[in-house]
Amino acid sequence: MREQTLTSGPDTTRRQFLTRLGVLLNVLGATLIGIPILGYLAAPLRRRAEQAWIPLGSVAGFPAGETRLAQYENPFRVPWDGVTAKIPCWVRHVEGGTFQVFAINCAHLGCPVRWFQESRLFLCPCHGGVYYEDGSRASGPPPRGLFEYEVEVRGEAIWVRGGRLPTLSADV
Ligand code: FES
Repeated sequence: MREQTLTSGPDTTRRQFLTRLGVLLNVLGATLIGIPILGYLAAPLRRRAEQAWIPLGSVAGFPAGETRLAQYENPFRVPWDGVTAKIPCWVRHVEGGTFQVFAINCAHLGCPVRWFQESRLFLCPCHGGVYYEDGSRASGPPPRGLFEYEVEVRGEAIWVRGGRLPTLSADV
């Protein structure tokens, strides 16, 4: 009589319940582990999606042989970005419609670099990083040259491919 009780309905139901609970917890655990892994694998696609072509201004606004400050509005802005959605950059008109556009952020720790026309150098005020006019590193702590945007001239306008802030792990 007692044996019958041990294998009867309530015990079987409890075993099934515990088995299902175990499967459910395993699925939940695998999901929690899998989400960051999927995020890591999809990161390159997401980074690519956070780039867009943005008009920077008229070619006429950037005379040949000069480097001037420009600014664009981050196309991936969120309402609380405020003025930080306005991203400055340096536009260098090399000659004959050839342009270079540099991120304003120093490649060391991200301070905004300034252009000095007289010396034809970019200088970083934070730790003395120096860059040549073509954006290459001249001296100081930066490990590389300035980050450079992809740039195109379309008709009378300059366009850059931007949106994501540069880091040392990936170029703009
Ligand atoms: S942030 Fe520019 S040299 Fe350090």
